[in-house]
Amino acid sequence: MIRRWDNFDLGGRNTFRMRVCCACYIEYDTVEDLRSIEPCSLPQPLLCMGEGSNLLFTRDFPGTVLRSCINYMKYFDVGAHEVLLAAGSGVKWDALVAKTCADGLWGLENLSLIPGTVGAAAVQNIGAYGVEVKDVIAGVTCLDLQTRGKVAFKVGELRYGYRDSLFKDPAFKGRYVITGVLLRLSRVPRPRIGYGALKEVFGGCAPASPEAVRQEVIGIRRKKLPDPESIGSAGSFFKNPVVSALEFAQIASGYESVPHFLLDGGLVKIPAAWMIEQCGLKGARRGGAAVYENQPLVLINASGMATPEEILALEGEIIGAVRAKFGVELHPEVEHI
Ligand code: EPU
Repeated sequence: MIRRWDNFDLGGRNTFRMRVCCACYIEYDTVEDLRSIEPCSLPQPLLCMGEGSNLLFTRDFPGTVLRSCINYMKYFDVGAHEVLLAAGSGVKWDALVAKTCADGLWGLENLSLIPGTVGAAAVQNIGAYGVEVKDVIAGVTCLDLQTRGKVAFKVGELRYGYRDSLFKDPAFKGRYVITGVLLRLSRVPRPRIGYGALKEVFGGCAPASPEAVRQEVIGIRRKKLPDPESIGSAGSFFKNPVVSALEFAQIASGYESVPHFLLDGGLVKIPAAWMIEQCGLKGARRGGAAVYENQPLVLINASGMATPEEILALEGEIIGAVRAKFGVELHPEVEHI
């Protein structure tokens, strides 16, 4: 079935809770429903959206928002150790994680409690606690809006990077609509608990089940990140910047210690949260917008009534402050629409 609304209020459909309208909002339940939609007849541009958890609407949207409600989950056994899980793009990401953990399957547990849908997870290459979704994706099925044909991509074709994929390339954006994702899960324990906070919790002991890891991840996230039910945000607002060894040495010379992660090629990733804190902006409030106290990488709609302009002004202030103090350019992780 297809459901269509014109001049639709998106306030309840984006986790930042920006009160903006789109010209047209369409939900579809199946790939065939999507195929039956005539894209040219709709207000342009088209925007595929999951739960709107990584977006900042900066003004009313003149085009059409397409929302997948393709909601299936199906396991396929592959030998004794491996299971493939096919899921519709409209499935809530955390519902999928909850189910696989309850079924004792390893692979998604570190990615617990991340808002959004399965389709959006594959666009964004969501990541947390040392795991990115590309590590578990086997492939993605799409509908090509240009040809109206179904297309299947293998994970190696999707150009996955840090919060990046082929679907973010302007050349492909709005062309391929993800309809389903195939995930590779394991029946045999494959815990990944090397990441700081998880390492501390398990103290080198193997977790008993994926559910045990999930519960710890949920605990860590609840402590650090705002509860999406009560505070509007889009998760991490900025990407963690990557600098050269030389730039890092210059920054580090001014501090007793600088948190960092070494990457290939001598590059160094510095937590943007630390830089924002050093700029004295942790907890800063500007009108309805604020920097979240427990995790300054997250900007929040503190009043519940924040406007896009207030969020954008705070974003600009942070980028300017970090540039002035460290000579480093922060880039938003949240997509601006
Ligand atoms: N930090 C501070 N001050 C603070 C908070 C943190 O200096 O007040 C520093 C600490 O050194 C800490 C470091 O920041 O060790 C990193 O913090 P954290 O482990 O919370 O992770 P992050 O780098 O801020 C990234 C992802 C998150 C993901 C976490 C956990 C990005 C942009 N964000 O955040 O993803 O959940 O790691 O793996 O890569 C998201 O994408 O929306 C998201 C929440």
